[in-house]
Amino acid sequence: MTILPIVIAPDPRLKIKAKPVESVDDGIRQLMDDMLETMYDAPGIGLAAPQVGESCRVIVVDVTSEDEERNPVCMANPELSWLSDDDRPHEEGCLSLPEHYAEVVRPEAIRVTYLDRDNVACELEADDLLATCIQHEMDHLDGILFVDHVSALKRNMILRKLTKAKKLAQK
Ligand code: NI
Repeated sequence: MTILPIVIAPDPRLKIKAKPVESVDDGIRQLMDDMLETMYDAPGIGLAAPQVGESCRVIVVDVTSEDEERNPVCMANPELSWLSDDDRPHEEGCLSLPEHYAEVVRPEAIRVTYLDRDNVACELEADDLLATCIQHEMDHLDGILFVDHVSALKRNMILRKLTKAKKLAQK
């Protein structure tokens, strides 16, 4: 498994709609495994393929805490099939927007259909942090970042700081 470089915002690769996967073959499985390795190394609780420069509809998540056994979930072509009426606010972060956080309100529970690591069609019902995380990662597949859910004022402030940090890193 390989730790992949993470694309940092602002970057046009984070703003495009990713293409569906035809089937979960060895290449996609490799990508899923590398994404998990990259996510655990960061460390983070979710990662979407566009964040490692791959424009395909693949996400990985694991919201278990450090002292629990790992419980990775790999999804290709995830689609929401149900959303709860109840909402859940959460202070979100993102490996592509390091050190920035903002409260985002999303449905508290979801049902999602997807292809798993073995190319089997699955449906998962999730709530709480797992539901928030899956929705955050699915947003990435449509070129949406968590800052797109907050006020323009806050979004522009965060993106300005990230642009500045990028320029400093290039010097
Ligand atoms: Ni993210």
